[in-house]
Amino acid sequence: MTNSTSDALVFFGATGDLAYKKIFPALQAMVKRGHLDVPVIGVAKAGWTLDQFKARALDSLKKHGGVDTAAFEKLSRLLRYVDGDYQDRATFEALGKELKTAQRPAHYLAVPPVMFETVIEHLTDCDCTKDARIIVEKPFGHDLESARHLNRVLLRHFDETAIFRIDHYLGKRPVNNIVVFRFANAFMEAFWNRNYIESVQITMAEDFGVQGRGAFYDETGAIRDVIQNHLFQVLCNLAMEPPVGVDSESVRDEKVKVLKAIPPLDGANVVRGQFHGYLDEKGVAHDSKVETFAALRLEVNSWRWQGVPFYIRAGKSLPVTSTEVVGRLRKPPTVIPADVLHSNYLRFRINPDVSIAMGMTVMGPGEKLAGQPAEMIASRQPDAEQMDAYELLLGDAMVGDATLFAREDYVEEAWRIVDPLLKKGTPVYPYEPQTWGPKEVERVTPPGGWQNPIVGREISAVATKAA
Ligand code: BG6
Repeated sequence: MTNSTSDALVFFGATGDLAYKKIFPALQAMVKRGHLDVPVIGVAKAGWTLDQFKARALDSLKKHGGVDTAAFEKLSRLLRYVDGDYQDRATFEALGKELKTAQRPAHYLAVPPVMFETVIEHLTDCDCTKDARIIVEKPFGHDLESARHLNRVLLRHFDETAIFRIDHYLGKRPVNNIVVFRFANAFMEAFWNRNYIESVQITMAEDFGVQGRGAFYDETGAIRDVIQNHLFQVLCNLAMEPPVGVDSESVRDEKVKVLKAIPPLDGANVVRGQFHGYLDEKGVAHDSKVETFAALRLEVNSWRWQGVPFYIRAGKSLPVTSTEVVGRLRKPPTVIPADVLHSNYLRFRINPDVSIAMGMTVMGPGEKLAGQPAEMIASRQPDAEQMDAYELLLGDAMVGDATLFAREDYVEEAWRIVDPLLKKGTPVYPYEPQTWGPKEVERVTPPGGWQNPIVGREISAVATKAA
């Protein structure tokens, strides 16, 4: 049954926050598109009945994305619910009964990683893992050691081809579009390398704080929360070599090669910050040294990139919400005075809108020789029909396509890079909310400075075409 579609979807953590915000909307969308027509079994310990569970699903949709009456009715018919403790074997026996004749269930663990092992052991004990798939939510471990442990647990019960480690950034079209854009355009290859690129910077800014997730965040921090996973995925898409095929392993091999070329992070190349007010958040330790902001510089020692610094910056309570990449080109050896030149760059906007832009210098108005910056932008309005990340990823996992999931070696390589730094506990500098982090960030700043995303930017230029 190697590639057949899963004939049941089980999700643990069914009454939790993720289910409420993301999973029910994704399930409704899958039903609407005709991609889901198998039993969906929620498991949780809430003392609920199936009707209460359905009511929760409806409420979730009202708040997140809207109810489509026909699709919801169908989804509602597919929903089942098993109430019980994950420590209790009886919960899994009840699940076994609900699974009935399912030959290839997909078990989705939307629960904290500390629960993974218990759930998986019980699933195996109760005969629910034969020919099954397992989908695991982030965070995948807390450090290299715990990630290795989780991998060992998973691989004891499942083949790697049946394991789907979620990083929802991989379900975002603009993140995948980086790869398509790079390898579908011949002109990219001419300059997207160490000969022309001076530096690459990735910014993930969020203008909000920890939004009631203080207890989770205080165990996590910006590096574990979004850099080690989401932004490393973006980095791999930017830096990888063309894969030899479009199959999942050819693509994932190339991503792992990028991480292998990155030495572990050194404290001198990292600045961590914490916004004023963070310590007052519920669930946060009063003397917490957890970072809500981090900026770092790393090297990718590959044939293509050696000597080109990659900068990553992420933070909460920054001035805007936007994720953007800027690859800056070296200045040309021209007789035009350097101070008149603006650097050329390639800009990928991932969030909130999607665009790809080339920054260039044109002749400014007036009699004196002056350079004026201009951008050539390819952009497209968000497509209402576009799949949300969770819809795409759950659908892919259920048909066994692992391309957009993190492989065992990938997650371990990603932890290898950040682990020594996290263990070292470098200083955490304060910053004011709605600023671009602590002033110490100067130490980790690309040549020519950080380019702060401007949200609501007017299309300044020249050609506009679908991205
Ligand atoms: C999550 C992090 O994985 O990603 C959050 O835990 C972060 O802290 C979120 O806000 C960002 O994802 P998105 O899709 O909203 O940009």
